[in-house]
Amino acid sequence: MRRYRVRTDAHASLVGAGEGAVDPAALFGRSAPLRLEIGFGHGEFISQMAAVHPDEDFLGVEYDHLRVTKTAHKCLKLGVGNVRLFGGDAHDYVRRLPAQALARVYILFPDPWPKAGHRRRRLVNRGFLADLARACAPGCRLLFASDTHNYALQVLSNATTLPGLWRTPWGGGGFRFDIPTRFPTTFERHKKEEGCSICYLLLERSGQPAPDAPPP
Ligand SMILES: C[S@@+](CC[C@H](N)C(=O)[O-])C[C@H]1O[C@@H](n2cnc3c(N)ncnc32)[C@H](O)[C@@H]1O
Repeated sequence: MRRYRVRTDAHASLVGAGEGAVDPAALFGRSAPLRLEIGFGHGEFISQMAAVHPDEDFLGVEYDHLRVTKTAHKCLKLGVGNVRLFGGDAHDYVRRLPAQALARVYILFPDPWPKAGHRRRRLVNRGFLADLARACAPGCRLLFASDTHNYALQVLSNATTLPGLWRTPWGGGGFRFDIPTRFPTTFERHKKEEGCSICYLLLERSGQPAPDAPPP
């Protein structure tokens, strides 16, 4: 990762700056369906998705600034221009997005915080899901994946008990194990190599307005 300590001008052209409201039309110079990946890590998924969907725009947010530069590097290698990457905390970031902006959201292998005493540090809690709901257009779909099954089930329960905001289009409990994926992420590959089973959720945003105040 050492080589990504230096962010070239070309890398920087794909990296969003500032701390205020995000303006997708200004970032991309057009208005197109918008997808967001949260915690994109080494960037395999967002770079390849953006390459195969040139008519859509992709935002990514990732805590680790070296991974942001590495992902910008990957996008440049693929000749991808419809991506803007942001360094920082995903919860702060979703609050900066315009209301009803997103058509798709991906949260793939978020940090699991597996110890019971650390679970409150998990990103995808009720407050986060309510804030994310505000940034999602009606019908927006959220794909979540984790090998930590209790995290996935916690997210499913949090989302579907936020009154009326999210529903799951999948029957049979709302989760699936080990479905085939188009562009597996680094963590997905590692976990499969270790023999872990992966739990996936698909959530869909309803048309109900998101609450102004976060839920208790
Ligand atoms: C377990 S890794 C998974 C990376 C990638 N999605 C994958 O599947 O390979 C979790 C990623 O989320 C990032 N992350 C953790 N908490 C975050 C937060 N609050 N905001 C943004 N990114 C976060 C970490 O830096 C890390 O890159």
